[in-house]
Formats: sequence, structure tokens, C-alpha cells
Amino acid sequence: MKDHYWRAISIDCIDPDYFPAIPLFMKTSGNYVLYKDAERQFSDADRKRMERTNTEFMYVRSGDMEEIATYLETSLKEMLSSDDLDSTRKGRILYQTSINYLVDAFEAPEHASNLERCRQLVQHLMEYVGKDDNALRSLQSVVGHNLYIFTHSVQVVALNLLAHEKLFNVEPDELQDVGIGSLLHDYGMIFVTNEILNKPDALSDVEYYKIKQHTQKGYDFLKDCSCFNDVSLTVVRHHHERYDGNGYPAGLKGDRIPRSAQLSALCDTYSALTLDRVYRKAVSHQDALRMMREESGKAFAPGLLSEFIELVNEKKE
Ligand SMILES: [Fe+2]
Repeated sequence: MKDHYWRAISIDCIDPDYFPAIPLFMKTSGNYVLYKDAERQFSDADRKRMERTNTEFMYVRSGDMEEIATYLETSLKEMLSSDDLDSTRKGRILYQTSINYLVDAFEAPEHASNLERCRQLVQHLMEYVGKDDNALRSLQSVVGHNLYIFTHSVQVVALNLLAHEKLFNVEPDELQDVGIGSLLHDYGMIFVTNEILNKPDALSDVEYYKIKQHTQKGYDFLKDCSCFNDVSLTVVRHHHERYDGNGYPAGLKGDRIPRSAQLSALCDTYSALTLDRVYRKAVSHQDALRMMREESGKAFAPGLLSEFIELVNEKKE
């Protein structure tokens, strides 16, 4: 494995006055080119140049992320409460910070500092969605409705971002859309009553039918909001499709299931199995992977399943 990998930083998060003294890179035709070294300060003129050329992201070496994380944490609260920034920009800043928090938390979930940072993220997310009536408002309803779904959703975001970055090497803007889709993948559960969601016994056919509707209902609702693109919506609609064609809502089979939905199904299943539920206790990491392996060629594409298992095993070591 490479000894460092690149992390994207949204231009919105680079405040000329406070940004730490680290090198920034630009991506040009697939190559990372040094834009400024550690000595030179990122200036207002630089920001304007980026705006003119529609550059949304710059890149830093993963080894510099510690410093970036500290910078983001200290400036986040200030940026979020500033009247000079509009809600879209605040959302992007928050989103950027979420990605950093979550990727780090997943890399070392046992670190108390990562847990604390995750808690902060949840707080910031809540504050933001509380004040903002755009895209992320949807998240608030999910949080209010069922705490399990929120914990699970944040976990699926972390896993899915990591998996998309490591296995498919997707561009930061697509990654962002996958993250938004993952955060809201079970949004449709708000249409299912708490009575069914919290039922400790086996579900009746009618109840199961209602649960299954969450994918299509969530998709229909979020599509009507007109603020989510197809990448995000695909995750919401198709995360319960199965490789053998027996999933829902569309019953897509094999590679007709979009790649992002196949990966989301893996992340979703792993997260759901390893969290406590009302009807059963969490299963261990090893047991979850064993149960998932039994679904090779049934629920999951064999190749993708192996890659996923390798990735989560690597992260658990
Ligand atoms: Fe779901």
C-alpha cells in the first residue's frame, strides 16, 4: 500500500487567515501538482483564482490531516455561526468536517478522541439541520424518529465513503453525493410506524411489506425535494437489491444493480448486523463477515464481497 494517500479539502474550508502552514496540491489530468508550499500563506487572491477557475477542491497529503482536523475543529463553530457565509457553504464545510471525523473514527473507533469528535459531528449536524431548511432538513426527521437509524446511517456513511474511496477511487464530488445518499438511505423509515420498527417479535407479512416500502417511499420523497442528485437517490432506492434478483424494490439482478447500490448494501448489512437491535443483540465483526460470506452470489456479487471483507478486516487490525 502507498505510504500516503490524498485527501480532498473543499475550498470553502480554506480560510486564508487561519489555514495551517501545509502544502496544498491541485489535481490536473489525474496528477497531483504542488500549488503552494508550507511557507507561503493561502491568500484571498488564491481563493478568487479558484473561484474563477471553478476549482472546488484542493488536496493535502493524508499525513497532514491531523493538522487539518485540528484547524477544522477550532474554526468550525465560528464558520457555522458566521453571518457572512450562506447555508450552502456552511453545509459544505460541515460535510467536509464530517468526512474527516468519520473516516478517522472508522480507522480507529477505539480511540476516545475519535468518539468525542464523532459526538461533536453529530452535534454540529444537528445544529446545522436545526437552522437550515434546505437539503439536510430531511436528516432531522430521521434523527427525531429513531436513534438506531441515525447511528446506523452515520456508520453506513463512514463505511461507504471509505469503501468508495478505497475500492473505486471516486472523485470527491461523487463521494459527497454517495455520503448524502448513505446518510439518508433509510429515510423512508419515517413512513413506517414506531410500533413496527420497534417490534421485538417476528414481523407479519403485512408488516414486512410495509418495511420494504421504505426504499421506494424514501426515494419518492427525497426526489420531490429536488435537492438530491441521482447518485444520492440511487443509494436510497436500491440499497436492498440483491445480486440474485430477489431484492427490492426493482428486483434488479447482477450488474444491473448500480455499483454504488451494491456497495451500499454491503455497508448497510455489515452495520445492521454489528449494532444492537430491538429483536437481537449485535453480532461480532467475525460473525457478521461469516454470515455475509454465506450470501456470496446470492445477496452480494462474489468479487465485490471479497474486496469489502478485505477492506473491513484491514481496518479492524
Ligand atoms: Fe434500508
